[in-house]
Amino acid sequence: MDVEVLGRVLSTLPEDDDHPYRTGPWQGQTAEWRADNLAVEGEIPADLDGVYLRNTETALHPAIERYHPFDGDGMVHVVGFRDGKAFYRNRFVRTDGFLAEQEEGRSLWSGFIEDPNKAVRQQGWGARGRMKDASSTDVVVHAGVALTSFYQCGELYRLDPLTLDTLGKSDWHGEFPRSEGVSAHTKVDPHTGELLFFGYGTEAPYLHYGVLGGDDKLLHHTGIELPGPRLPHDMAFTENYAILNDCPLFWDPELLKQGAYLARFHRDVPLRIGVVPRRGTNADVRWFEADPTYVLHWVNAYEEGDEIVLDGFFQGDPMPKADGETGSHRIYRGLALDRLQTRLHRWRLDLVTGQAKEERISDSITEFGMINAAHGGRPYRYTYAATGEPGWFLFNGLVKHDVLTGAEERYAFGDGVFGSETVMAPRPGATGEDDGYLVTITVDMNRNLSECLVFDARDVAGGPVARVRLPERVSSGTHATWAAGAELPGWRKGDDAAASLGL
Ligand SMILES: [Fe+2]
Repeated sequence: MDVEVLGRVLSTLPEDDDHPYRTGPWQGQTAEWRADNLAVEGEIPADLDGVYLRNTETALHPAIERYHPFDGDGMVHVVGFRDGKAFYRNRFVRTDGFLAEQEEGRSLWSGFIEDPNKAVRQQGWGARGRMKDASSTDVVVHAGVALTSFYQCGELYRLDPLTLDTLGKSDWHGEFPRSEGVSAHTKVDPHTGELLFFGYGTEAPYLHYGVLGGDDKLLHHTGIELPGPRLPHDMAFTENYAILNDCPLFWDPELLKQGAYLARFHRDVPLRIGVVPRRGTNADVRWFEADPTYVLHWVNAYEEGDEIVLDGFFQGDPMPKADGETGSHRIYRGLALDRLQTRLHRWRLDLVTGQAKEERISDSITEFGMINAAHGGRPYRYTYAATGEPGWFLFNGLVKHDVLTGAEERYAFGDGVFGSETVMAPRPGATGEDDGYLVTITVDMNRNLSECLVFDARDVAGGPVARVRLPERVSSGTHATWAAGAELPGWRKGDDAAASLGL
């Protein structure tokens, strides 16, 4: 292994920090590494060719009052695979907020469970305002550039997908919706090269939807009217439609008038799913009502006759009441999949009758389902989802769901080992949807190390075919993406970027 520390960033966290989401499996790094020719147990498939990118919140400073696991700065990890070898880099996203707090050596904005009025800086980001846009939630690759995003609307930061250098913010030729921002989960349609996105806020019409072309030109941007401020986290799409949502979990309207942001689940208000033609406007939206829930993540959607089939994770208890838990388990119970009761679910939206039918398609508690991206917006059969450590925001294994037969195949990481969102990397020349590999990063608390695991997607239960050792134990984390080498500028040998990475 050829390793160097490229630099270290400032952390002002105390040596004896004991916050459950800044220590243990959530212990963050301050070092930024370059590591080539990583040590491997097993064998990296010679045709695994591309990069696994993972983002996650990493705490660097004590909170103004109370830290929430969503408050840390975005750090992206990349594990690249080529010719049976692997490399690793990790870098903080150089957001305006990160740079300002590095300069001042303290937290300047209020976090998710803090009073916005306690923020040191008056100006901030997010639908709520006075938050730090940490660009810490998701990462996708669009037109050869990695884009990081923030769950409560912000900028999209552009990163080199190989070096992870921050290249600046998306500008979209001057048309980036800076006043409202773009929210957590954008969607890249591999069939058109478009990036579909939404943003939300506290001002009518409360939701915006848009489409960006592969040339970074804004193709469409329109306001979508909602009954009030909402907190959508994800969207879906089909070949001809974008699918937005109005979940009945939102800031209490009365408290909001007093400047207090307290989310409540309204158990008697239906979930509304909005289907809009991909270039449609508010007048074109078809709203479908379904059982009340909050959907954090959709899996996929596609058209079938007059219906749209939409799969996602239904939360049986979106706002779980405290149940004898103490300490951090009580404070952060709403992050534990077992408490949220997240199960794979299917909604069928009939475009002729306007009716929605729905059914649970798995009894297993899973979330964070990924698919073979080539099937995005099109019929598909498999999703690869995470299982949760009871009581914690940690993933203790993965499940391959066959949504056609209901069959499930499982792999448990083992006690004290936690994974990340597991991506599917199709094999070049693949002959089937699950002809490829699954990739995830783990945190092994028993051995005090991290690995990047590679599975054969057709034999999940068989366990990893390769365990790639990272230079340092990383923080546990969530959202990730896969980008094939063929999508990445500079990936080919002889290019400057490839040469600088020792490829
Ligand atoms: Fe998310």
